[in-house]
Amino acid sequence: MSYYKLIEEKFKNLKNKKEIIILAIESSCDETACSIIKEKKILSNIVASQIDIHKRFGGVVPEIASRNHIMTIQNVVEKALEEADYSIHEIDVIAVTCGAGLPGALLVGVSFAKALAYSAQKPLIAVNHIRGHIAINYLLNNELEFPYLALVISGGHTAIIKVETEIDFKVITETQDDACGECFDKVARVLGLEYPGGPNIEKLAKNGKYTIKFKEPMQEKEGCNFSFSGLKTQVINYVHKQEQNNQKYKKEDVAMSFQTTVANMMINNLKKALIENPNIKAIVLSGGVASNIFIRENIEKEFSKKYKIYYPPLKYCTDNAAMIASEALTLIRKNIAVPQDITLDAQSNLDIETIL
Ligand code: KG4
Ligand code: ZN
Repeated sequence: MSYYKLIEEKFKNLKNKKEIIILAIESSCDETACSIIKEKKILSNIVASQIDIHKRFGGVVPEIASRNHIMTIQNVVEKALEEADYSIHEIDVIAVTCGAGLPGALLVGVSFAKALAYSAQKPLIAVNHIRGHIAINYLLNNELEFPYLALVISGGHTAIIKVETEIDFKVITETQDDACGECFDKVARVLGLEYPGGPNIEKLAKNGKYTIKFKEPMQEKEGCNFSFSGLKTQVINYVHKQEQNNQKYKKEDVAMSFQTTVANMMINNLKKALIENPNIKAIVLSGGVASNIFIRENIEKEFSKKYKIYYPPLKYCTDNAAMIASEALTLIRKNIAVPQDITLDAQSNLDIETIL
């Protein structure tokens, strides 16, 4: 039997298995990650963060990220297997992030996964990273009801999506320019805070007050709209103006005012989306910025009387491989996963609706 016939055969048989074991690899940005799940149970979730390496450059340097993925990936995969107490031969499927992300970084994960799948004779499933940020919730919340609104807020994406079923998505709105996390990182830089800016802004804002009324870009427009580039410029201009005029200002207040403006923008857009979509059962937050407690609490305060609010624990908000495993499991169980061959490539630009 030819190699791919054998893989197809293995994949077909797998669908009858009660508990599928998946090894997933994630390398789209600055985290090298591997996770093993047994159906909906997370057996291991290893994340090697490169934050300390990129900190001194004030952001992720793509070339350095790729090189570090190369150096780390084998150890991360071995550790994930060890922690789950499995050998590679006991794994049913290998899954890998193919996009969206940094092309060089993605290629490391994709190449490693292809080699691993080929040598161990396992089916390989390609996963869309952004869909993974939503899918992680299926491993964590059994009672999540459809349709729900997913607010995806990460370093690369900001969107509200109507999730009809695990596989039917309708994008209600996406950012017109910068992503929300990117804006946090840029504002942090002007305040002299280290990369990644989000957690540092959140920390600083704890001692600050909402004293500066930044304009919420595009909020006066009809319908849902996100724009963060204008907000970033307002904050940068404010800081520069104060410094040029030798005016004292409190960085804590800038952080709190910026963070409050972001939370308000999220709330306004969610309100509009809920009016347009009256049958919504829940709101699900995901992506790195969803680990911001202030934003979580404000969204809870506004919506929790009428809607169930879900958000993953902090370690599953930022990039990890359990979310990739969960999306792969979803695609397999919904019968739309296609085993990939050795020609599988990374796709740095991928929209949320695309299933690979
Ligand atoms: O989802 P993620 O780990 O990677 C991408 O797919 O982009 O998100 C990373 C982003 C960074 O921009 C980081 O500053 C932001 O999430 N972030 C936060 C917080 N923790 C991480 N933003 C605001 N508050 C936080 N606590
Ligand atoms: Zn991400």
